[in-house]
Amino acid sequence: MNILVGYAGVHGSTHGIAERLATRLAECGHVAVVVPLAAEQKTGGYDAFVLGSAVHHGAWLAPAADFIRSHPSTLATRPTWLYSVSVPPREGHRPARRRTEPRQLAGIRSLIRPCEHQMLAGAVYRDHVPGWRHLAFRARGGRYGDHRDWKAVDHWAECIHGRLADVEGADPDPGTH
Ligand SMILES: Cc1cc2nc3c(=O)[nH]c(=O)nc-3n(C[C@H](O)[C@H](O)[C@H](O)COP(=O)(O)O)c2cc1C
Repeated sequence: MNILVGYAGVHGSTHGIAERLATRLAECGHVAVVVPLAAEQKTGGYDAFVLGSAVHHGAWLAPAADFIRSHPSTLATRPTWLYSVSVPPREGHRPARRRTEPRQLAGIRSLIRPCEHQMLAGAVYRDHVPGWRHLAFRARGGRYGDHRDWKAVDHWAECIHGRLADVEGADPDPGTH
């Protein structure tokens, strides 16, 4: 299948996850193209979509949300997966009002009815977080470093392949490629 693996990010970790998803999907026999999301990005020629954004201040970045709002009927009628890249809190940290999903997700869900939404761990460094926001970040339980879990990313790509195989009769055994 032809799959668009879209991403919106600022510092590169979401792009890295999109590349890894595309690599694993290609190993499973698909043609997976990585594109930065924007409202004007075209959807023609793709059979399925894997779309994600870094989470900043509890929300998806505008280019990812804009892309989805620009193509609701296409995305609602083709298999579409969503992912959000954020930084999990320090172990043991229990903020009083922790948002588990980015703000726009409820609206996006009702708009396109995706197959699934997956939260994935990203990367953040001290110089990405300006001034006083550093204190807010730490108070929320944020921790600096690259927290990307490549095994989890690969596993999710394989789950997507499995679902596509169910739909289209594609090769269900990615290990043979
Ligand atoms: C300005 C800023 C705000 C952020 N806000 C959140 C947030 O609200 N929740 C969260 O879990 N992570 C937050 N993060 C962490 C990012 O989601 C994480 O660093 C992500 O991997 C960034 O992706 P990118 O490298 O593609 O830009 C924030 C990071 C930055 C730099």
